[in-house]
Amino acid sequence: MSEAHRQTPRRHSRLRIRVFKACETLARVCGGRALYRALNLRPGRFAVRHERLAVGADSPLVGLRMVQLSDIHAGPFLGTGDLVHVVAAANALAPDLCLFTGDLISRTPDEGLLVLDDLASLNPRLGTFAVFGNHDYRHREERRLAAAFAERGIRFLLNESVRPLGEDSPLVLLGVEDLEEAKSLDLTAARAGLRPGDLELVLSHNPGGAVALLSPATRLVLSGHTHGNQIDLPFLRTLGPHHPGERVELRPASETESAATLIVNRGLGVVGVPLRLFARPELVLVELVP
Ligand SMILES: [Fe+2]
Ligand SMILES: [Fe+2]
Repeated sequence: MSEAHRQTPRRHSRLRIRVFKACETLARVCGGRALYRALNLRPGRFAVRHERLAVGADSPLVGLRMVQLSDIHAGPFLGTGDLVHVVAAANALAPDLCLFTGDLISRTPDEGLLVLDDLASLNPRLGTFAVFGNHDYRHREERRLAAAFAERGIRFLLNESVRPLGEDSPLVLLGVEDLEEAKSLDLTAARAGLRPGDLELVLSHNPGGAVALLSPATRLVLSGHTHGNQIDLPFLRTLGPHHPGERVELRPASETESAATLIVNRGLGVVGVPLRLFARPELVLVELVP
């Protein structure tokens, strides 16, 4: 596969990083984590978005329910036990699959372990799968994190495909490493097992390069990364990654290719300041319908 879809990593000035860290430290010592949990992670404070995806009346995948979580950013404002209500809400949706689309940590790999117990409490019928986001490559210890999560039944997909419903099922789940930070993206190899009639679902943290990730079999791309702008005010929108929508039709159906839809999750955590404005955290339930 061409690597033309790769995105240049965002590199901020030292001054901006220092200001960012100072704000973060100040917010943390002033009780930012408790504030964020109270305002965003208690029942009724986060949204549950229900998305339906048509797959054809005769598809064996009709009825499949997948819950997507994204951008937890464990660290100064989200730690052990803070996701208990989110996990309970996810389990109450009776998912077949739980899917995490990256940015597990804020700054250090060990922050990811803070939420391991919470995420291991997800209870989908067929398993929990995940990909890493750009933050997760800090210190380049993402493989260690993946191993720790694998021990608790959560599998990070590192440019690889699985058939979560079994080898006879047409559902293929492809996990793509982050488009800014990963070292290799050999998706041709990852797709070597695709068969005619397969329906491919792609997990890619960054929605920006989604069009370049499509194969003829791709029906759905799940992403995060944008936080819905986190503080969604016009004069602040240039500070973070922006994307034109939460659900975008990437490609109409043709004789040789299926229609492809991109769903961008606003995420659960925050970076920089423990605030969200006009960008509620969310779980996304994706249901495959006739
Ligand atoms: Fe993020
Ligand atoms: Fe991100």
